[in-house]
Amino acid sequence: MRKDISYNNIIDGEDFERAQACADAAANLSADQIKTDGFYITQLYDRYSAENHAVWKEMYEKRWEVLSEQASNTFIDGLRAIRLIADRVPLLFGEMPDPNDPSKTVKGINEYLRPLTGWQSRGVPGYLPAKAFFACLANREFPTTVIIRPREKMDYLPEPDIFHDVFGHVPLHADPVFADFLQTYGKAALHTDDPVHIERLARLFWFTVEFGLIKEDGRLKIYGSGLVSSHGEARHSLCAPDGTGEGKVERRAFDMERVCETTFEIDKYQPILYVLESFEQLRDAMDKYAERVLDEAKAAV
Ligand SMILES: [Fe+2]
Repeated sequence: MRKDISYNNIIDGEDFERAQACADAAANLSADQIKTDGFYITQLYDRYSAENHAVWKEMYEKRWEVLSEQASNTFIDGLRAIRLIADRVPLLFGEMPDPNDPSKTVKGINEYLRPLTGWQSRGVPGYLPAKAFFACLANREFPTTVIIRPREKMDYLPEPDIFHDVFGHVPLHADPVFADFLQTYGKAALHTDDPVHIERLARLFWFTVEFGLIKEDGRLKIYGSGLVSSHGEARHSLCAPDGTGEGKVERRAFDMERVCETTFEIDKYQPILYVLESFEQLRDAMDKYAERVLDEAKAAV
C-alpha cells in the first residue's frame, strides 16, 4: 500500500516513486542481490515549514524535560554526540547556514555520527520491505523517514516519522556496542529465509530496539525508541505496577531465548518488557544467535 503523502512536502515526487519502486523490487531479491543505495531519497531540507520545525521543537522539549531522568545514559550521550537539538528538524547530511546566525554553519547529524561508529541515517519515503530494511542495517545504514507528523497527530502516529526515527533511534547508533549489535542483527536477519528465525528476530527487535529497558546504577532506564519517543508509553514502562493484568507491566530480565519466544501486540501499552544488564549483554547474545542463524543459512544452501 502506498504511503499517504498528503502531508509530505519534503520528498520530490519523482525521487519518491523511484525509491519506492526500488524498495518494492527488493522484496523479490536474494540477500546478495540487494543494493541499498536505490532505496534512499534526498531530504529537501528547505521544504520543511515553520510549522514542521515547531512540531519537532514541541515534541523534543516535551520529551527532553523528563528524559534525563528516564533514559539510559548511553542514549543521552548519543543524543549529544550527534548534536541533536530542539530548535529545528535535524538535517541528515552535509551542512547549511545556521538559521539563527547565518555567519555560522550547522552540520547534519551524520557528519558527527559517521566518524564515531560508521553508521548513517539515510532518508526513505516510508516502510521498506523486511529484507531491504535488514540489508540497510547490515550496511550500518538506518532507513529514516524524513517527513514529520502533522500537529493533529502529535501524540500518536502509527507509522514512523523523523521524530520517531531520529530522536528515538539514532542516538544509540553513536554507541560502539549498540552499533555492533544492530549491524549483526541486520546481517543475521538478511541472510536467513527461515520463517521461524524471521519471527524470532522480529520479537527481538521489538523487545530491545523498540521497547527495551536497561538497568543503570541500580535504576531502571529506557532505551527503546518506542519508549524514548513516547511520553505515555515511557511513563507506563517505568511506573506501572509490577505484575500481570490490566495496567501492569511484567519487567523480565533479558534472556535471548525467552525474548524470542515472547509474542507482542502493537497499538497498546506493552504488558511485558525485557530489562538488559548492559548493552554488552545484548551484543554478546546477538553474536551467538547470529552465528547459529548464519551457520544454518549456509548449511541450507
Ligand atoms: Fe522504531
